[in-house]
Amino acid sequence: MTKPRILLIIGGGIAAYKSVELVRLLRKAGYVVRCVLTRAGKQFVTPLTLAALSENKVYTNLFDLKDEVEMGHIQLSREADLVVVAPATADLLAKMAAGIADDLATTLLLATDKPVLAAPAMNVRMWLHAATRRNVATLRGDGVTVMEPDEGEMACGEYGPGRLPEPAAIKAAIDAALADAPAPVALTGPGALAGQPDFAPANRRPLYGRRILITAGPTHEPIDPVRYIANRSSGKQGFAIAAAAAAAGAEVLLVAGPVALPTPPGVIRVDVETAVEMAAEVEAALPVDAAIMVAAVADWRAADTAAQKIKKDGSGQVPPLALAENPDILASIAQSAQRPPLLIGFAAETNDVIAHAQAKLARKGCDWIVANDVAADPMGGESNRVHIVSKAGVDSWDRLPKQAVARQLMEKIADELDTRAPLERD
Ligand code: CTP
Repeated sequence: MTKPRILLIIGGGIAAYKSVELVRLLRKAGYVVRCVLTRAGKQFVTPLTLAALSENKVYTNLFDLKDEVEMGHIQLSREADLVVVAPATADLLAKMAAGIADDLATTLLLATDKPVLAAPAMNVRMWLHAATRRNVATLRGDGVTVMEPDEGEMACGEYGPGRLPEPAAIKAAIDAALADAPAPVALTGPGALAGQPDFAPANRRPLYGRRILITAGPTHEPIDPVRYIANRSSGKQGFAIAAAAAAAGAEVLLVAGPVALPTPPGVIRVDVETAVEMAAEVEAALPVDAAIMVAAVADWRAADTAAQKIKKDGSGQVPPLALAENPDILASIAQSAQRPPLLIGFAAETNDVIAHAQAKLARKGCDWIVANDVAADPMGGESNRVHIVSKAGVDSWDRLPKQAVARQLMEKIADELDTRAPLERD
């Protein structure tokens, strides 16, 4: 099988050293990596380091006669399956958004017909600046995947969002982008490019301009400082849906219960622990074009949370555990004045799947229930067999990997939202 080829453009910034580690991770995973170093990037890492790690020639200069003869810059930009910009400085993002091509890196970015993923790194003020916000929005609208930078202390001593995501997170974003990208094709020989699907970035973003809210994972309901009520939800399906929604161009807010999963690229994530916290974050996120409530919200919480660990008193008596009902988040936003135009619930059922889903659809007041048949494969697996139950009928899908369920669901949502105007924005 052809190994995926990555064209890695390294911008100038202190975070450039992390791209060295990224090259190592990509090579370890079997990717073919070709590096392009900007003039500013050369101040931070050397072409020799990158050449040694990538085991490939490193390109730095637009007008290099020898390079042009060996491989022209247009071919260089087309030869990859994915173009990755890491670190993507504020300056590089601005040039990409404006279509400026004044050096090799920006020329390749303008000439490419391949998906582009950018991992930003800059000072927090630069990241939050209106100009950068505009450029990032433009790029996302054009089909570029712009990751959210990490938050933390910066090399300049300030604190906030702007740090380059960790190499492992960039690698995960690359894996996800390649899963969505056209399949690699042979690049040499007659007709090498025949059969290569036309890459029209904007067309692959059917949810651009839409705001989508997703809940995922379990909730934990504390009993005392060390114990809680929980369920077996892994959060994988909800996170896959958030990733697919972001890849489809939507602005995605993910309200996540306690799970050990990385944030998908381009997704804004808010972590919560309890159903009550989840309900508050969901309400704060409205209005949205669509809400997909994938979380397995605990139905009950402890009526009183003990301030201290509950101890055995030696009598053999078990402590009483009074429960209180949690808010039904889905049912209450269905009733709210800000009800999303498309409201989708999930239901894991072990028997009479469709009948239960139809009853739940009516009871919750949502538009679709994605009914998940968990009789054969309980929570936590890698695949799902779902039926989309709505007033219009039942759409039953084969058992699919969770990522495929997510992508297919996004297509269905995009078709549905196409019939409606986007939300009015402030
Ligand atoms: N849900 C919610 N808030 C709750 C319970 C459930 O928002 N307190 C949402 C879930 O996110 C899911 C849908 O409602 O989208 C159905 O969840 P489920 O647990 O199947 O619903 P229940 O009403 O608890 O039904 P059951 O009696 O089958 O447990």
